[in-house]
Amino acid sequence: QTTTSFYDAVGGAETFRRIVSVFYREVAADEILRPLYPEEDLGPAERRLRMFLEQYWGGPRTYSDERGHPRLRMRHHPFVVGPLERDAWMRCMRIAVGEIEPSILDDEHRKALLDYFHMAAHSLQNAPG
Ligand code: HEM
Repeated sequence: QTTTSFYDAVGGAETFRRIVSVFYREVAADEILRPLYPEEDLGPAERRLRMFLEQYWGGPRTYSDERGHPRLRMRHHPFVVGPLERDAWMRCMRIAVGEIEPSILDDEHRKALLDYFHMAAHSLQNAPG
Protein backbone atom coordinates (compact mmCIF):
# COMPACT_ATOMS: atom_id res chain seq x y z
CA GLN A 1 0.00 0.00 0.00
CA THR A 2 1.26 3.40 -0.88
CA THR A 3 -0.03 6.79 0.20
CA THR A 4 0.53 9.95 -1.74
CA SER A 5 0.88 13.13 0.25
CA PHE A 6 -1.05 16.24 -0.66
CA TYR A 7 2.38 17.72 -1.49
CA ASP A 8 3.05 15.05 -4.12
CA ALA A 9 -0.53 15.07 -5.42
CA VAL A 10 -0.34 18.74 -6.37
CA GLY A 11 3.04 18.60 -8.09
CA GLY A 12 5.50 18.79 -5.19
CA ALA A 13 8.26 21.38 -4.89
CA GLU A 14 7.61 23.07 -8.22
CA THR A 15 3.98 23.90 -7.36
CA PHE A 16 4.87 25.35 -3.96
CA ARG A 17 7.75 27.28 -5.50
CA ARG A 18 5.37 28.83 -8.04
CA ILE A 19 2.64 29.69 -5.51
CA VAL A 20 5.04 31.40 -3.12
CA SER A 21 6.89 33.17 -5.92
CA VAL A 22 3.69 34.73 -7.28
CA PHE A 23 2.51 35.47 -3.74
CA TYR A 24 5.62 37.57 -3.03
CA ARG A 25 5.42 39.22 -6.43
CA GLU A 26 1.99 40.45 -5.28
CA VAL A 27 3.22 41.38 -1.79
CA ALA A 28 6.00 43.48 -3.36
CA ALA A 29 3.35 45.53 -5.18
CA ASP A 30 0.89 45.75 -2.27
CA GLU A 31 0.86 49.03 -0.37
CA ILE A 32 -0.72 47.49 2.75
CA LEU A 33 1.56 44.45 3.00
CA ARG A 34 4.91 45.61 1.66
CA PRO A 35 5.66 48.01 4.56
CA LEU A 36 5.19 45.18 7.09
CA TYR A 37 8.16 43.22 5.79
CA PRO A 38 11.25 44.30 7.70
CA GLU A 39 13.80 43.33 5.07
CA GLU A 40 14.32 45.07 1.75
CA ASP A 41 14.98 41.70 0.13
CA LEU A 42 11.82 39.58 0.18
CA GLY A 43 13.80 36.51 -0.89
CA PRO A 44 14.46 35.13 2.61
CA ALA A 45 10.81 35.61 3.63
CA GLU A 46 9.74 33.86 0.43
CA ARG A 47 11.98 30.93 1.25
CA ARG A 48 10.62 30.62 4.81
CA LEU A 49 6.99 30.57 3.65
CA ARG A 50 7.82 28.03 0.93
CA MET A 51 9.58 25.70 3.36
CA PHE A 52 6.76 26.03 5.89
CA LEU A 53 4.06 25.19 3.31
CA GLU A 54 6.02 22.26 1.88
CA GLN A 55 6.34 20.82 5.37
CA TYR A 56 2.71 21.51 6.32
CA TRP A 57 1.41 19.62 3.27
CA GLY A 58 3.63 16.57 3.70
CA GLY A 59 6.82 17.51 1.86
CA PRO A 60 10.38 17.92 3.16
CA ARG A 61 10.76 19.04 6.78
CA THR A 62 13.46 21.62 6.06
CA TYR A 63 11.43 24.37 7.73
CA SER A 64 11.60 22.81 11.19
CA ASP A 65 15.20 21.69 10.68
CA GLU A 66 16.14 25.34 10.20
CA ARG A 67 13.53 27.23 12.21
CA GLY A 68 12.25 24.83 14.86
CA HIS A 69 8.58 24.68 15.80
CA PRO A 70 6.58 27.02 13.52
CA ARG A 71 4.80 28.95 16.35
CA LEU A 72 3.21 31.15 13.73
CA ARG A 73 1.11 33.23 16.11
CA MET A 74 4.19 34.13 18.08
CA ARG A 75 6.24 34.88 14.96
CA HIS A 76 3.55 37.27 13.69
CA HIS A 77 3.33 39.10 16.98
CA PRO A 78 5.74 41.88 15.87
CA PHE A 79 3.43 42.75 12.96
CA VAL A 80 0.06 44.44 13.20
CA VAL A 81 -2.31 42.07 11.42
CA GLY A 82 -5.79 43.57 11.34
CA PRO A 83 -8.60 42.76 8.92
CA LEU A 84 -7.02 44.90 6.18
CA GLU A 85 -3.70 43.08 6.35
CA ARG A 86 -5.40 39.70 6.64
CA ASP A 87 -7.56 40.35 3.58
CA ALA A 88 -4.62 41.74 1.59
CA TRP A 89 -2.61 38.59 2.41
CA MET A 90 -5.50 36.39 1.31
CA ARG A 91 -5.97 38.39 -1.89
CA CYS A 92 -2.30 37.88 -2.84
CA MET A 93 -2.58 34.19 -2.05
CA ARG A 94 -5.74 33.76 -4.11
CA ILE A 95 -3.94 35.28 -7.10
CA ALA A 96 -0.97 32.96 -6.54
CA VAL A 97 -3.07 29.79 -6.25
CA GLY A 98 -5.11 30.96 -9.23
CA GLU A 99 -2.05 30.85 -11.45
CA ILE A 100 -1.67 27.09 -10.98
CA GLU A 101 -3.39 25.27 -13.85
CA PRO A 102 -6.36 22.92 -13.18
CA SER A 103 -4.32 20.10 -14.75
CA ILE A 104 -1.89 20.42 -11.81
CA LEU A 105 -4.28 21.55 -9.07
CA ASP A 106 -7.74 20.01 -9.37
CA ASP A 107 -10.86 21.50 -7.76
CA GLU A 108 -10.70 19.38 -4.63
CA HIS A 109 -7.05 20.15 -3.85
CA ARG A 110 -7.55 23.81 -4.78
CA LYS A 111 -10.43 24.09 -2.32
CA ALA A 112 -8.42 22.39 0.44
CA LEU A 113 -5.55 24.80 -0.09
CA LEU A 114 -7.73 27.92 -0.17
CA ASP A 115 -9.79 26.79 2.86
CA TYR A 116 -6.56 26.27 4.79
CA PHE A 117 -5.17 29.69 3.83
CA HIS A 118 -8.46 31.33 4.79
CA MET A 119 -8.48 29.62 8.18
CA ALA A 120 -4.78 30.34 8.82
CA ALA A 121 -5.04 34.01 7.83
CA HIS A 122 -7.96 34.48 10.23
CA SER A 123 -6.15 32.67 13.02
CA LEU A 124 -3.12 34.98 12.63
CA GLN A 125 -5.10 38.20 12.85
CA ASN A 126 -3.83 39.86 16.03
CA ALA A 127 -5.32 43.34 15.90
CA PRO A 128 -8.85 44.72 15.56
CA GLY A 129 -9.93 46.79 12.57
C1 HEM B 1 6.45 35.58 8.33
C2 HEM B 1 2.99 38.84 7.53
C3 HEM B 1 -0.31 35.32 7.34
C4 HEM B 1 3.27 32.07 7.36
C5 HEM B 1 5.79 36.77 8.14
C6 HEM B 1 6.42 38.08 8.15
C7 HEM B 1 5.44 38.98 7.94
C8 HEM B 1 4.20 38.26 7.77
C9 HEM B 1 5.59 40.49 7.86
C10 HEM B 1 7.91 38.33 8.36
C11 HEM B 1 8.65 38.01 7.09
C12 HEM B 1 9.85 37.15 7.30
O1 HEM B 1 9.73 35.91 7.35
O2 HEM B 1 10.92 37.73 7.39
C13 HEM B 1 1.78 38.17 7.46
C14 HEM B 1 0.47 38.80 7.36
C15 HEM B 1 -0.46 37.82 7.32
C16 HEM B 1 0.27 36.55 7.39
C17 HEM B 1 0.19 40.30 7.29
C18 HEM B 1 -1.96 38.01 7.23
C19 HEM B 1 -2.82 37.26 7.92
C20 HEM B 1 0.38 34.13 7.25
C21 HEM B 1 -0.22 32.85 7.03
C22 HEM B 1 0.80 31.93 7.03
C23 HEM B 1 2.03 32.64 7.27
C24 HEM B 1 -1.71 32.60 6.83
C25 HEM B 1 0.77 30.44 6.83
C26 HEM B 1 -0.15 29.81 6.16
C27 HEM B 1 4.43 32.73 7.66
C28 HEM B 1 5.71 32.09 7.88
C29 HEM B 1 6.62 33.09 8.19
C30 HEM B 1 5.89 34.34 8.13
C31 HEM B 1 5.98 30.59 7.80
C32 HEM B 1 8.10 32.90 8.53
C33 HEM B 1 8.19 32.52 10.01
C34 HEM B 1 9.62 32.29 10.45
O3 HEM B 1 10.25 33.26 10.88
O4 HEM B 1 10.09 31.16 10.37
N1 HEM B 1 4.45 36.92 7.89
N2 HEM B 1 1.62 36.82 7.48
N3 HEM B 1 1.74 33.98 7.39
N4 HEM B 1 4.58 34.09 7.83
FE1 HEM B 1 3.11 35.45 7.68
